[in-house]
Amino acid sequence: MNVLVLGSGGREHAIAWKIKQSPLCTNLFVMPGNPGCSQIATLISGSPKDFSAVKEVVLSNKIDLVVVGPEEPLVLGLRDNFEADAELKHVLFVGPGKAGARLEGSKEFAKEFMQKYNIPTAAFKSFRGETIGEGNIFLESLKAPYVLKADGLAAGKGVVILNSLEEAKKELRSMLGGKFGNASSRVVIEQFLSGIEVSVFILTDGKDYLVLPEAKDYKRIGDGDTGLNTGGMGAVSPVPFVTEEFMGKVKSRIIEPTLKGLQSEGIDYRGFIFLGLMNCGGDPYVIEYNVRMGDPETEAVMTRIDSDLLSHLISCAKGELKNETIKIAAENALTVVCVSGGYPESYRKGMKISGNPLIKENTFSGRVKIFHSGTAINENGELVTSGGRVFAVTTNGSYLSETETEKIEEGREAAYDMVDKIFFEGKNFRKDIGLDIIRYIKES
Ligand code: AMP
Ligand code: GLY
Repeated sequence: MNVLVLGSGGREHAIAWKIKQSPLCTNLFVMPGNPGCSQIATLISGSPKDFSAVKEVVLSNKIDLVVVGPEEPLVLGLRDNFEADAELKHVLFVGPGKAGARLEGSKEFAKEFMQKYNIPTAAFKSFRGETIGEGNIFLESLKAPYVLKADGLAAGKGVVILNSLEEAKKELRSMLGGKFGNASSRVVIEQFLSGIEVSVFILTDGKDYLVLPEAKDYKRIGDGDTGLNTGGMGAVSPVPFVTEEFMGKVKSRIIEPTLKGLQSEGIDYRGFIFLGLMNCGGDPYVIEYNVRMGDPETEAVMTRIDSDLLSHLISCAKGELKNETIKIAAENALTVVCVSGGYPESYRKGMKISGNPLIKENTFSGRVKIFHSGTAINENGELVTSGGRVFAVTTNGSYLSETETEKIEEGREAAYDMVDKIFFEGKNFRKDIGLDIIRYIKES
């Protein structure tokens, strides 16, 4: 089977790495990919949002299966484009069509969907320019902190949480006034939920589903969850409070009603669903849906899947997931993201990367894996930085320690040891990945 992965981040590197291990994989392509992906796949330049370029790549490389990493091509209707094209419609495709992708592409749609199908989520109301007055009244009825969300895709920056009512009203005015362009022409205001967040992932063909390993993301730039929000600074999997009992609630209260809801809406959903959940005193609430895998969660999650991901993806695309069983390794995985100095605000690109001899070669030795994210090869053939998040270093498996906390500690040591061997000007990373999990286990 010839497989094409669309996207360029650590998530796509990790997905490609896992697919590559399958005996079902003949040729693997990533568009546009990154230097890490080039160690295991053929890179094809171009944007996944350029539908005619994607078509050309699929036809010229006789691609049998397409896996979409990021949400944007899905929200723009890449799947619909395949289905409507006589030359492409036979190609297996993992990722929802435009209608299903609205679960991520429109917060208002997602909230109304959850309300309609009784899926636990924060109470909310949605407003537009003409109803700003009602928005202010709704804010007055809530207690701080105030959560405001741009309806559309806003590059991960569309959620604003504020402590004062005045600031919240000002933010509402600014958002509806075009702060995020069209994405904030509608704004969802919702009740603040306090609890611990967890990312749960499923692969579904719209009827059946596989639950992938869950993960915890570290969203803030600074240790101890301080500073600005980022795309994600690290991940751990498993998450200890995700017990069988908790997962039972996630399945019966969230996953199954979500799939039933999609069916009732006439949406034939085939792809990943990423449930951003809040654990509020043992009960799961949906913070958000994403129609793709998480980054950097994927870089931890993929290393814990022991079964053949490609086989799961093929069955998903064919609508035959009921025949598949996922096997998940017990070992914990821990991912530390190395970012460019200044990220998530402005940062420099083109910094030379040196230090670890494994970086340019095959990096998947033993239990430490380096997934590339914002890296590139410059005109002199040197590996350089090209983005905010540069590498995701993951450790997994074969721990010598006995107890769970010691294993996480051991994973931390191995990951940070590798992080210390990667050099580029301005390198920054969080030093506390996994510490909260160790604390949680010790306290419970
Ligand atoms: P989202 O883009 O919807 O994932 O939101 C970004 C982050 O804002 C989430 O990961 C949460 O940490 C936080 N957040 C979003 N909605 C809420 C809420 N209703 N209550 C508390 N925190 C929230
Ligand atoms: N790590 C969060 C996300 O991918 O949206």
